[in-house]
Amino acid sequence: MNESGDNSVIRPAPVEIRGFRHYAAWLTRDEQAALLADLRGVLAAAPLFSPITPSGKPMSVRMTSAGRFGWYSDRRGYRYVEQHPSGVDWPPIPDRILGIWTAVSGVVRAPECCLINYYPPDAKMGMHQDRDEADFTQPVVSISLGDDGLFRIGNETRGGSTQSLWLRSGDVMVMGGAARLRYHGIDRIAPDTCALMPKGGRINLTLRVVT
Ligand code: SIN
Ligand code: FE2
Repeated sequence: MNESGDNSVIRPAPVEIRGFRHYAAWLTRDEQAALLADLRGVLAAAPLFSPITPSGKPMSVRMTSAGRFGWYSDRRGYRYVEQHPSGVDWPPIPDRILGIWTAVSGVVRAPECCLINYYPPDAKMGMHQDRDEADFTQPVVSISLGDDGLFRIGNETRGGSTQSLWLRSGDVMVMGGAARLRYHGIDRIAPDTCALMPKGGRINLTLRVVT
């Protein structure tokens, strides 16, 4: 929906890349700014933290979550947990974000986790599968804000050929169907490519049905 609450914004058709549906520039600039304002509320209740990988290394992204579950990682492994590390429940997923899921996901269930990843300009995310959820018929929907991120898509097993594309502020990507378990990652952020966030960097939201 646009700022006045109607559906008059003409949305781009998606382009399919290895089964992922890429909606370039799905969100208008006003919608991106409104989303960022929603996220400031979430971050006030559930501040970003630096997760540790199971092998003991700090991840270069900082993260937090909204929804019934938050994604978490430490020496004990990757998993979903019902509280922020401070002990409080995760705040609810903002309605504007749920609206994006409804528009593009193609499924009837609602997301139970909105993982918020903040990439400082030098952050990246290694190739991985999203497989901590119970039902792989449910897609993962990703929303990008801020600086451009170079997204790489691989295969259902590690290795093999890959394809890369830049994810820009306002882009939405649906990772579902036969492609739900494809490896993917972020190779790098292009600093100072977007003026949305005064201090730069990139935010990626991923919406997931967990149970
Ligand atoms: C992820 O795969 O969890 C994040 C992808 C992205 O940052 O675009
Ligand atoms: Fe992922």
